[in-house]
Amino acid sequence: MAPMTGEGPTAATTPDTRAEGYKTVENSPLMAPQYGEPEPQPAEVLGLSKADLHMHTNLGDGTASPHRLLEVAKRRGLKVIAITDHDHMEGCKRVQDLIDRGESDIEMIWGCEVTTRQGHFLGLFMKRPVKFLTHVEEAIETIKDQGGLCLIPHPMGRLVPSLSRRKIEELLTRGYPIDGIELYNPSPANSSVRDQVKQFNRQWGFAGTGSSDAHFWQHIGAGYTLFPGSTAEDLRTAIINNTTRAGGQETPPERLPFTSYIGQCVWSMVIDPPRKLSRMWLSKTTTEAPDTSTVRR
Ligand SMILES: [Fe+2]
Repeated sequence: MAPMTGEGPTAATTPDTRAEGYKTVENSPLMAPQYGEPEPQPAEVLGLSKADLHMHTNLGDGTASPHRLLEVAKRRGLKVIAITDHDHMEGCKRVQDLIDRGESDIEMIWGCEVTTRQGHFLGLFMKRPVKFLTHVEEAIETIKDQGGLCLIPHPMGRLVPSLSRRKIEELLTRGYPIDGIELYNPSPANSSVRDQVKQFNRQWGFAGTGSSDAHFWQHIGAGYTLFPGSTAEDLRTAIINNTTRAGGQETPPERLPFTSYIGQCVWSMVIDPPRKLSRMWLSKTTTEAPDTSTVRR
């Protein structure tokens, strides 16, 4: 089945349009004011930029083409994006090729959502994918060996394979270097435990990120990370220094027709797995980030 792209944006998809009464992230400068409080400052006024650190292309189980993805990310005001297809970096390469051809001035981080035996795990600033179905400890070591950052996507999520609270605390106790955690991921995989995760992270102390985990172009930017500066390297520094802020709850993610989700399920369960297997078993070469840098304009 061909990937779904849909039509242009609507007012409802504009991220800064607040839905009245919708819950906001506690530490977001964009949060809705209480009665008598000053209006929140836009991120730009505070010297912060927006990044979306978790999204999928139609080279993986997403439905957005690299071209559409860049176009929408620009419209949503994102300065930096990370492409994080499952277990390969083909989507990163296609998006980077478009950026290199001058299609966008957005900076892209080479990333990957690794399928580990303990749940999904995110690597950013990566050079090459991590072995499918490895243990999370090995994934962390491999990402760190490449100079990457380790993040926990949809922590304690119940609908997709996710690291449990016990596993996260075990990794912490054993001293595994985890850099960040998704405090905001709009997917149902995360929403029911979001408040608990925020509470636990007060002890864990990971840098908090917000990401869309978008599989549809309509959801790009629905979750975002605010960071000081404007470049991918600024963002790396902010995660390391724990100065990021999770955002994205000002506007509920756009509801799509049910058939869109059915189409994405078919794409993800019927079309994508054979491609993934052929990449793993038949291809002699694996798509890798350029040697010189993991981030290029
Ligand atoms: Fe994901």
